[in-house]
This record gives sequence, structure tokens and C-alpha cells, in this order.
Amino acid sequence: FGEQTLAGKSVIVTAGGTRERLDPVRFLTNDSSGKMGYAVANAARQAGATVTLITAPTNLTAPAGVTVVPIQSTTDLSNAVLERFPKADALVMAAAVADFQPETTADQKIKKTPANDELILKLKKTPDILKQVAGIKRPDQVTIGFAAETQNLLANGQKKLASKSLDLLAANDVSRKDIGFNGDDNQVTFISPDGSTDQTPKASKAIIATALVDRLAQLLVKK
Ligand code: C5P
Repeated sequence: FGEQTLAGKSVIVTAGGTRERLDPVRFLTNDSSGKMGYAVANAARQAGATVTLITAPTNLTAPAGVTVVPIQSTTDLSNAVLERFPKADALVMAAAVADFQPETTADQKIKKTPANDELILKLKKTPDILKQVAGIKRPDQVTIGFAAETQNLLANGQKKLASKSLDLLAANDVSRKDIGFNGDDNQVTFISPDGSTDQTPKASKAIIATALVDRLAQLLVKK
């Protein structure tokens, strides 16, 4: 049994890869398994927090004692987060949010015809949820983001942390085959607003999640 460092605190965790619908039977998504977010939700619950897990579809079972809010698209996720954030003490955005969404979703299945040898999809940028959250964030609230980078991990991470007004960023190098997305292990570099960095060893997502939750508890104490 871990210490109840988050007792009395309300934490929102987002997880999984969003689905952006093209038509009733097709969508665009990404490789996120949701494992990291579910591990964070579990660790926060173990630390005594009241946890809301806002999750895109995954193959995972939600940890016991956690309130689950299922969502599909970035728009759903944005609405769910913005509705609940004012009442939360902290938000951990582990969801792999789509960067682009179809400009329109067809009401009926898109058909192939003898005439169309190609189909051009028009995508538009999704809203940045953490940037929207930054606009309504109170000084007593903590926000933590993840960054999947394939190059310049630290420089890109620091920029991201500042642009999204985060209290902590967990950056991971997804160019490495042994960690990240679908695996059970991860290795992250925690980046703080003061520029300090701390790389975890390669470890299970459960252990990384516990390290993240320890930091979250410390950040809430300092607020
Ligand atoms: O900018 P980038 O997508 O790399 O940032 C990653 C972080 O921002 C993650 O925590 C992700 O959940 C969050 N994000 C977001 N809204 C988006 C895209 C990413 O909140 N539209």
C-alpha cells in the first residue's frame, strides 16, 4: 500500500488515441494503447485521489474505483475535459490526441464508384486541449502533459511545456522501439518549468506512473 499523498484531491486523467470519424464505418486514429494513461489513473487512485479517467476506446479494463468517461473524438475529449477541469485539482493529459480531424464527417458510408480512382480527404487542425485549459487554469491547479518526440526531445519538450503552461511534461522518445506507445515499458524525461530535467530509468508503465504521481503530489503541496 502506497502513501495516500493525493487524499482529498480530484485528478482527471485522459488516455488512449482519439478517433476522428470519416463516415459511419471509418475513422482516423493512432497507435496509442492507452496503457500509460490507465497506469497513471491507477497510481493516482492508489495514492488516494478521486480519479476521473476520460478515455478513448482501448482494449484495457479501467482500474477499480475510477470514474470512467468514454469519448471518441478530439472534440468529445475537449468538451469532457473543459467541463470537468474547473472542479479538479489536477489534469494529466496522457491521451494521444489527433493533430488533424476530417473537415466533414459523411452521414453515409463513402462509396467507391467506377469514376473515382482517388479520394482526397481534407483535414483541419484539432483544437489544442491543453492550450484551452491553460486559459482557464487557476494558480492552485496542476497540469501535466506528455510529449511523444522522435527528435530534439529536450528542446521540443521545453517549448511544449511553456506553450501549454504546464507544471510538468513527461517527454518520451517514440523513435525507440523498446519503449512508448504499445509496449509495457516506458522511459520518460520529466521536464519542469524551471528547465530542470530528470530522466527515469526504463521501467514498467506502472512504475513510471507512480513516479509521475509522486511528482504530481509534490506539485500540489507547493501550490
Ligand atoms: O503538441 P503535442 O501534441 O506534441 O503535445 C502533447 C500533449 O498535448 C499531450 O499531453 C496531449 O495529450 C496534449 N494535446 C492536447 N490537444 C491536442 C494535442 C495534444 O491537449 N490537440
